[in-house]
Amino acid sequence: MTSLSALPRLPDAGLFGSFGPTTLERLAFQRRLAQAREPLVRGRILHLPVYFPCTPEAVHEVLVGKARSFEKSPGLRVLLNDLAGQGLFTAEGALWRSQRKMMAPLFQPAPIHQYADTMRLVAEHAASRMHEGQAIDLAHETTRIAMSVVGKSLFDVDTFDEADALGEALTTCLAWVNDNLTSLGLVAHVLALDATASLASATAGRPRRALQSLHARFASPFLLPTSRDPKLRAAVRVLEERIQGMIDERRRHGFTRNDLLTRLLTAKDPDGSGESMSDAQVRHEAVTLFVAGHETTATALAWSFYLLSRNPELMARAVDEALAFGEGPITAWQPERLAFCTRVFKEALRLYPPLMMMPRRTLEAVEIAGVSLPPRALVFVSIYAMHYRESLYPEPERFDPDRWLPEREAERPKAAYLPFSAGPRFCIGAHFAMLEGPLVLATLLRRWHFEVDPGREIVVDNFATLRPRGGVPAVVRRRASGPSEGPPRAGG
Ligand code: HEM
Repeated sequence: MTSLSALPRLPDAGLFGSFGPTTLERLAFQRRLAQAREPLVRGRILHLPVYFPCTPEAVHEVLVGKARSFEKSPGLRVLLNDLAGQGLFTAEGALWRSQRKMMAPLFQPAPIHQYADTMRLVAEHAASRMHEGQAIDLAHETTRIAMSVVGKSLFDVDTFDEADALGEALTTCLAWVNDNLTSLGLVAHVLALDATASLASATAGRPRRALQSLHARFASPFLLPTSRDPKLRAAVRVLEERIQGMIDERRRHGFTRNDLLTRLLTAKDPDGSGESMSDAQVRHEAVTLFVAGHETTATALAWSFYLLSRNPELMARAVDEALAFGEGPITAWQPERLAFCTRVFKEALRLYPPLMMMPRRTLEAVEIAGVSLPPRALVFVSIYAMHYRESLYPEPERFDPDRWLPEREAERPKAAYLPFSAGPRFCIGAHFAMLEGPLVLATLLRRWHFEVDPGREIVVDNFATLRPRGGVPAVVRRRASGPSEGPPRAGG
């Protein structure tokens, strides 16, 4: 067995440790990580050692084989506490297990297919609002679309975008989470959370109770000065009141709607007491699904458009596929008809995985890649680094949707592709996103050509997800002959 001290060490990059605070520094660091030959390497964040599994086998051990020995690291849990409490994304242990069991049936392919029409209608509506010569930002458009799709699927409301009070409140909260995600204040908060837990377990009686209550206080981000900002507090209140209002309405009028909120309210614990969720838990899950479900998909869609705009031949193939639907609805009922757009979306998710890193912490001593890690060790899985490993993806920088032809995909180990993670904490909305992405792409491409300035290289932004900096500005051009003007033909 290799000892901890014998692990290869990554060079330091200043106060923050192995990787700096900005997205660009973190990306550069992860590209170096993609070159690592060893299955496990050691780095540092502030004064704490961090371990990075690098090969698909080592990552598989962390996320799948030995997943029970890990928890998510608590930073995001603290940040989302006032917003999404213990929703599925942040919950741990018994609560997470029972919530996942209750919610998994809602996200199976068959129930999710019922939202395909919503996806199509929202995309068609967005396309119908565009006009020849209009200057748009594709990142903004895809955010509006994804927000409306998840808003309509969750709450069955028709107008839902950032102009809506609920959408605005969510956007405010999300921006706050993003601003604090890499703050030193959050690191201090997490250290205080841990310190109070260890001190409490080492004491007894009154001091213990005092430390336990202090520990509970640290579950909420009260130390971060901006957490008391009146605009943020007002947004949190709007979320609570509006969602509670919708819950009350459903309770009053029976559960007749076909939205996810109704399904959350009527879901029962399958093998426990048959109990349903409390209203507070339903509110937290609704916010969790909203937050997890729109920014990620919107970002991947924006990159898909950008990558296609750089590759006219691939664009023509995607357009051909969209035009082959004629004037009929672009549906998801025959996935083979959207096979190329699906490969485009998958490849965009490889090159720009919306969540690039998954921080974990060991709950007990555990052996990874033949190395025994101590309890409470930080282990970061870099999705981005995995997606740029040359041994898995030759010419990793190249946008090549055909990497996802079934026979080529079958050659790679499963943990080589991680946009939705792997194992028990695999993204519950992956099927939803994989339905929405290609469908929206084809629906917009069928009608419009988006002229993106070929001289402008778009880089990633410093945000929680890998957003395109400055968006993806484009000019809308009518296809030489689109559905509204006669028989469709490939263009673009
Ligand atoms: C392209 C779009 C998406 C990407 C790239 C994505 C990515 C991810 C990743 C990487 C995780 C695991 C995070 C971790 O374990 O640290 C995750 C979890 C999750 N995602 Fe997604 N996601 C997407 C879309 C969605 C959608 C559409 C929904 C809901 C409608 C959703 C809901 C969730 C939830 C609830 C979890 C937590 C699951 C659990 O821990 O049991 N996601 N997602």
